[in-house]
Amino acid sequence: MSTEVRIKRITTRDIRARKGAEPLVVLTAYTAPIARLLDPICDILLVGDSLGMVVYGMETTLGVTLDMMINHGAAVVRSSSKACVVVDMPFGSYQESREQAFRNCARVMAETGCAAVKLEGGRELAETIRFLADRGIPVMAHIGLKPQAVHAIGGFRAQGRNDAEAEAIRADARAVTEAGAFAVLVEGTMEPVARALSAEIGVPTIGIGASPACDGQVLVIDDVLGLFDDFTPKFVKRYADLRPLITEAAERYAAEVKARTFPGPEHCFGMPKK
Ligand code: KIV
Repeated sequence: MSTEVRIKRITTRDIRARKGAEPLVVLTAYTAPIARLLDPICDILLVGDSLGMVVYGMETTLGVTLDMMINHGAAVVRSSSKACVVVDMPFGSYQESREQAFRNCARVMAETGCAAVKLEGGRELAETIRFLADRGIPVMAHIGLKPQAVHAIGGFRAQGRNDAEAEAIRADARAVTEAGAFAVLVEGTMEPVARALSAEIGVPTIGIGASPACDGQVLVIDDVLGLFDDFTPKFVKRYADLRPLITEAAERYAAEVKARTFPGPEHCFGMPKK
């Protein structure tokens, strides 16, 4: 008899049921080794389109393609077994029509095996979210600061700074919830606004630069590890500083290669031991 223990993946229904309960732990993951490390720790692994900036060195997320998201999404799904994997839909892949959104989201789900997709948008996307949810595609909505709209909003700046903006974000949260989103990511939003909308909608909110009153928190893993410092928003907390470790390891390797002390006999085939 096999002694293998199969751990059931966390589903979008499980996530939804965590509203108001133990906070949800979410980190981004883009690659197999990071997904393997984070899977036992996280409720959700988010394959964010931030990978355009973090992995591909782009200035914004606008150049990310569907194929990039599918390749990284599939790697993360293959390398995890417990966390609920959510894949971001890139700019231009869902805004044109609900049919375009369905076609591309279905492709992402079929080709990666992920549990859900994330779309940036509020009231303007409610009809699309309903169309997708009614057809079996679980959607996480992303409101507040929407990086794919960076040019329209004039840069990466916190949202909800005045009454009109605050009411617009709260209306977005209500609209995407009513449309069937199973969770709402709230980015770069003034704390009282994020707190208020978390209290008024019935699905979990996941905050980044939002509020501790959100039902969970997400950070970009490269920020957490101190690997990405092109741009460090106020809301980032660095839990480790891996850059000096990587530099030191590479420098030691370079020194040993130049001194011909690497490879040693233990790394070679058929080399006599001294
Ligand atoms: O693309 C991303 O990584 C995101 C962040 C807000 C976590 O959406």
